[in-house]
Formats: sequence, structure tokens, C-alpha cells
Amino acid sequence: MSLESCISSRAVAYLPQAPKFFDVLDDLWHPITNPGGIVNLGLAENALMHTELTEFINSKLHATPHALTYGDGFTGSKQLKQSLCQFLNQQLKPFTPLVPAHLLATPGVGNALECCAWSLCDQDDCVLVGRPYWSAFDYIFKIRAGVNIRQVSFGPVDPFSLEGVQEYEKEYIRAKQESARVKAILLCSPHNPLGRCYSKEVLKAYMRLCDKLGLHLISDEIYALSVFENPKMPDPVPFTSILSINTQGLIDQRKVHMLWGLSKDFGATGLRIGCLVSQVNESFLKSLESFSLFNFPSSLADGVIASLLADEAYIQQYVSSYQSRLAKSYARATQFFRKHGIPYKESNATLFLMVNLTEVVQGTSLAEDDILTMLRKEKVYLTSGTSYRSEQPGWFRVVIAHPQYVLDEGLKRIVQAFK
Ligand SMILES: Cc1ncc(COP(=O)(O)O)c(C=O)c1O
Repeated sequence: MSLESCISSRAVAYLPQAPKFFDVLDDLWHPITNPGGIVNLGLAENALMHTELTEFINSKLHATPHALTYGDGFTGSKQLKQSLCQFLNQQLKPFTPLVPAHLLATPGVGNALECCAWSLCDQDDCVLVGRPYWSAFDYIFKIRAGVNIRQVSFGPVDPFSLEGVQEYEKEYIRAKQESARVKAILLCSPHNPLGRCYSKEVLKAYMRLCDKLGLHLISDEIYALSVFENPKMPDPVPFTSILSINTQGLIDQRKVHMLWGLSKDFGATGLRIGCLVSQVNESFLKSLESFSLFNFPSSLADGVIASLLADEAYIQQYVSSYQSRLAKSYARATQFFRKHGIPYKESNATLFLMVNLTEVVQGTSLAEDDILTMLRKEKVYLTSGTSYRSEQPGWFRVVIAHPQYVLDEGLKRIVQAFK
């Protein structure tokens, strides 16, 4: 029997898109229970504050009869929306303070991105994204909404510079020549995988460009709080939220959208809570209600996150401990790479850093896939730059947001893989 007679042809087309890391999750290393397992420095997860956060959650988990119902609708409880506003007003300093009518809650940022694809674009439209980028954007936009990611290459230009903005315009013109319809620019800010932030000036330039070309500007700020001090960066660009910029004279504010969630900054990928903020585009948010049953976050996660984000004292302490642990992990990992002569790109944000492993095997013709195989033999999982559509070969993303014993074990295995 052919596959097509068992499942639809579109399901067949997407079979190869199933995440490749499930086998890693199936055999995760643990020093006592699974010492022969795989050390996972590949998946963008943040375990730095897991102990504190699980304690908090366990102290707050409280089901009410209301939690067993459809609650306040499918886009998050009133309480969660209120807490998100309080928290985001504090952390992102929006130019116009957020109120619940400016946002809706989603089961994660991946889902909020798909909401953008669905309601800002039509089938076969394109969204411009600079390389390298988190490649799941490809399938999040494509699978159900049918929207294409159109890659923007930078060559020697710094992707975070004002010149970088011009590369988007060039790509837009090329798209037009091919009769492709571009609807939006999607930024990842701070950037996965490069770990850097866009300056306010550059963000304003993106706003001007989007205005000129009639595009939406979508800012995925899922790593907004994952910023840290890096004394080795002489002039680090701090994080600026797109929401903090006065759009007057720059862009029609109805075209500015920001996404944030708990998966990265709070290391809570399993809770599935994110949000989509669009401050003056009422019809956009309203349109999402039409298919909000697919995007309905669980009431238990909703309730516990509402309590977490409303607790200002806890959040203040959490953010300060988290950022200092992240800085320590970064310092530890980079010291290790310097000691072993492995080049890396300095960064001051996100959960990872980019290292160049082809330098380690100089003089050989090993490709990124060969290196991944060598790493896998040593039972350590990383992801390669190619999977982020990187323009330069040889770079690998290493997740550093792990307790020291996990990070050390992973780093040790990376070096052992080349012995
Ligand atoms: C840039 C970016 N956006 C969104 C997501 C998905 O987040 P969530 O778990 O909230 O769906 C990720 C996860 O790696 C990410 O790196």
C-alpha cells in the first residue's frame, strides 16, 4: 500500500519535517541514571533556573472549577493578560503602556508566529528573514498558512548594522521582479542563533523601510530577558524592544507586532505560554479569535504563569539571578573554547554561542555533517550553522544555559570528539 493511500499527500510532503532531535530527548545524559546518554547542547532550552522555578510553580499550582471550563475565552484568561501587561510594561518599557486589549495569549511563541503567518499574510505570500535564522520559521510559516520565508543574505555586511537593513530592500526588489508578494519583515531580537541585539537606530530603520514598502514588522523577542554582561565585548548593544520605540513618523503602528513567551527566558518550553502583542491593530487580534480553539493555552499553565508574572518581587530576583548565571555560563564556555583554540563569536544575549569547529579539523575536508557525526559518536548533540541557513560554513551553535556539570560534560565531549 502506498503512503498516499494511508495519509494525505500534504502529510507525505511534510514527513521529513518531523523534528530530528526526538532521538536525543529519548536518550538524555544523566550522570547517575544514564551516564551513557547524549549531552544535549543543541536544543535551545534553558535549565539555569529550573530548581527555583519548579519550587515556585509547585507552591502556586491551584485548580479552581473555572480552570475546568473554557474560562474567559480561548486567548488567555483575563488574569494572564493583566499579568503579561504588568510584566511586559516593566521589562520592555513599551512607549505606550500595554493593556489587555493589546495582546492575546498563545500556547508558545511558535504558535504566535503562525498566527502572524495566518492573519497578516495570504497563501504563497513571503516574509523576509535575514540569514542565519532559526530554521523552524520555515515550517511554522509554511505548513498550515502556506507562507514562504524568503532569505536575506548579507555577504560581508554586518546583519545588525544600518547597511544590513538595505539588504532587505534589495531582496524585496528581487522578489518584486519575480512577482513574489512580500508581506512582512521578521526579526529575531535578540537574535537566534547569533546572540546579539539590534540597536534602537537599526530598529527605527527597519520601521522606516517597512513603512516605505508597506510591510508588517514582526519582532520575535522570545529572548528579551536573556541578556547578560560580556566584558569581552567593548561596546555591546543592549536589547531594545520594538514596543519601546515611538512609531510616530516611522511606521503605521498597526503594522508593528511583538511576540514573547516563557519558553526561553523562563526555561519553560513545556508550559506552552506565549503572547502576541499588536497595540492598535484590533482587526488582526480579532481575526485570530476565529481559529483560537487551536491556540487555546491550558488553564493550569495560564493560571500559574499569571501568578508568576504578577509577582514583581519574585521576578526582580529571578531576572537578576538568571542573568548573572547566564553570564557565568558564557564566561565558563568561552574560557574553555579559548583554552582549546576553538574560535567563537562574542555575544551578549540568548542561550547560546556560535563556535567554529571546522577550524579544529583544519587541513581535512570534513563537512559540517561529518563533524556532527563525530560529535554524535562522542554522545554530544549540537546543531550546525547550515541548519540555520548560515552564509559561512563551519559554525555550530552551542547552548550554554545549563548547570555547570552538564555544560562541562558537553564541552569535554566536544573536544574529545576531535581526538
Ligand atoms: C526565535 C524563536 N522563536 C520561537 C521559538 C519557539 O518558542 P515556543 O517554545 O514558545 O513555541 C523558538 C524556540 O527555539 C525560538 O528560538
